[in-house]
Formats: sequence, C-alpha cells, structure tokens
Amino acid sequence: MTSQSTQVSPVIWKEDRVYLIDQNRLPSEYTVVEISCCEDMAEAIKTMIVRGAPAIGIAAAYGIYLGAREIETTDRDQFLTKLEAIGELLAATRPTAVNLFWAISRMLKTARQTSGSVEQVQQALLEMAKTIHAEDLQTCKDIGDKGLEVLPKTPEKLTLLTHCNAGGLATAGYGTALGVVRSAWRDGRLARVFADETRPRLQGAKLTTWECVQEGIPVTLISDNMAAHCMKQGLIHAVVVGADRITANGDAANKIGTYSLAIVAKAHNIPFFVAAPLSTIDFALSNGDLIPIEERDPVELYQVGNTRICPVGVEFYNPAFDVTPAELITAIITEYGAVPPGELKQFQAKQLV
Ligand code: MRU
Repeated sequence: MTSQSTQVSPVIWKEDRVYLIDQNRLPSEYTVVEISCCEDMAEAIKTMIVRGAPAIGIAAAYGIYLGAREIETTDRDQFLTKLEAIGELLAATRPTAVNLFWAISRMLKTARQTSGSVEQVQQALLEMAKTIHAEDLQTCKDIGDKGLEVLPKTPEKLTLLTHCNAGGLATAGYGTALGVVRSAWRDGRLARVFADETRPRLQGAKLTTWECVQEGIPVTLISDNMAAHCMKQGLIHAVVVGADRITANGDAANKIGTYSLAIVAKAHNIPFFVAAPLSTIDFALSNGDLIPIEERDPVELYQVGNTRICPVGVEFYNPAFDVTPAELITAIITEYGAVPPGELKQFQAKQLV
C-alpha cells in the first residue's frame, strides 16, 4: 500500500493490520508498507524500515501479536512455547536498543499472566501492543515538556543541535530529543535546530530535517564534522540527543558520533542533554562498557547511493552506536523529570516491566 500522507506515525495500527512508514525511502518517497507476519516485522526492524529505539519496541510488540495470532493450537503451554520462539526471532534483529527487549518481555509477561483460552491471550497481546504504542506518545510529550525545565534560559531564542533522528519517526510520533525541540518550538523558545547529517546512514539529513520541514521548525543541516566549529562560533546553546540504552550509572549509548559530540560540547562549555523514556534505561547493566554495540554492513560506509566511494582492498569498521560516559552528560531528560545521570536510580521503581 502506498500513500501520500505525511503524518509522522512510523507504526500504524488500522483495521486489524500493521503498517510501517518505510524510513529507508524518506525523504524522497513517503511509502507505507503493510507488515502481515512476525517474520516480516523482524526483517523490517533489521533492514531499518522501522528504526529508532522506542519505535523498534512498538514494532516488535505488534510483531509478537502478529505471530501470536498465527499460532494454531488451543493448548496454552504449546502456545506459550511458540510465542517464546517468536520473541527470540524479534530479539535477534538489533542488539543495542534496549526498548526492543523491554517491549518483547512486556508482551511475553502479558501472555503468561493472562488466564483463559489462547484466544483470550491473543486478545490481551493486541491490547498490550496498543498500550505500549499509546504510552510512548504520551511519554514523549512529557519528555518534551520536562526538557523545557532544563534548557538554558537565554535572552534570545534557543538554537539546539541534535544528532541522528530521535524524532516522531523514532518513536510513536512526538520524539525524545526532537520532542524537546517540538515543545520548545510550541512555547516560542526555539529559534532553530541544527541537525547533524549523521554518517553513515544519514538519519539526521534524511529524517530529522524531513520532520522539521513537516512541522515548520527552522532547521539547518550540517555535516558531522562541523559541530565543533559551530559551537566555537557561538551558534549552539545546547545539544539534545536521544539514546538506545542508558545504563544504571547514566552512561548512554546512542548513534555513532554522539560521544564525540559530547566531548566537543564539554570543550565549549555547552550543556549536553540525553532525552529518553524509562524504557530506554537498562538498570540491569552497571555501566556502558557492557552495552552490546551493533556492527552493520560495511556497504553503509563504502557506498553513497549507488556509488562506491573508496577503492577495493580497503577494510571497514562500522559500529552503529557509541557510548557517551555519564560525566559528559549534563542531564538525562525522562518523562518523570530531568536529572543528572548519577541520579537515575530514583526512577527505577517507576519502570514498567
Ligand atoms: O540506528 P537507528 O537509526 O535505529 O538509531 C537511532 C538512534 O540512535 C536514536 O538516537 C535513538 O534510537 C533514540 S530514538 C528516540
């Protein structure tokens, strides 16, 4: 199915079907694809038709439901065993964003805890997928508003720098880092956002700028290696990024390039904020060295469009994420408030699992 609508809602549940905006085709083409089984959902996550930590979690939740409704048995135990296998299939897609594992375990827990027939469990799984979806939209709006409390108070309107895409496309529709940008824009506090292009997949250039243009938010695209220069010129008041996994001590994994951005922000005395829901916090890991870092196909590095940009014989290293140490982070902005990274533990009891 294709559509010309530009509403930012990367995962769509409509008339008993799941659709995804194909984020590999933006901004040149807005295409919505139907996902009809859990195998196709796993493939869509792997190939980044859907991407961004919370959006991956939401997609996986619907993926579990799609798998569950295909299980042909009335035996509860058999059903649960097959469901676990579907959970493993979806979990094997991308290793870094903890929201994926968080959503899968919430779905499996729902199945185990729902009494009654297999049909009743299937219905409960659909309700839980919809809940995870709806909660994320509200959570991101709350993150956006909480972010306003810690953004610098400046006489002039703010210019914020962001990296990758932590926007509506990466969540249910409002964004985490871009949620803060959206709330600042709504309240008349934002002059403009600078978007890093975000090599190698260019989520900043392709997706963040697209979202800003949809909303009429002034956006300036820079290449990743321009950030320090822009800071030195006094163009940036604060940096706001998202996260794929934050450990108990406040270290934060996010798109490759975030760490160097945090170092240059520190060097220029510019506040560096990480905006993320509690579902992105992995309290089971003590520090960021323990976060699994995804390595992706080198084609992302050596090919731009259809053109190979380096000679044959070169070797490649393509980590998709890096870890910013807690000491470089001014505050982590969650739906419950913004706190220094060392104070995250106060939210542990609020985390839904
Ligand atoms: O590889 P991607 O595009 O899934 O990476 C996305 C990011 O790094 C985002 O910043 C992160 O997932 C936060 S999304 C609200």
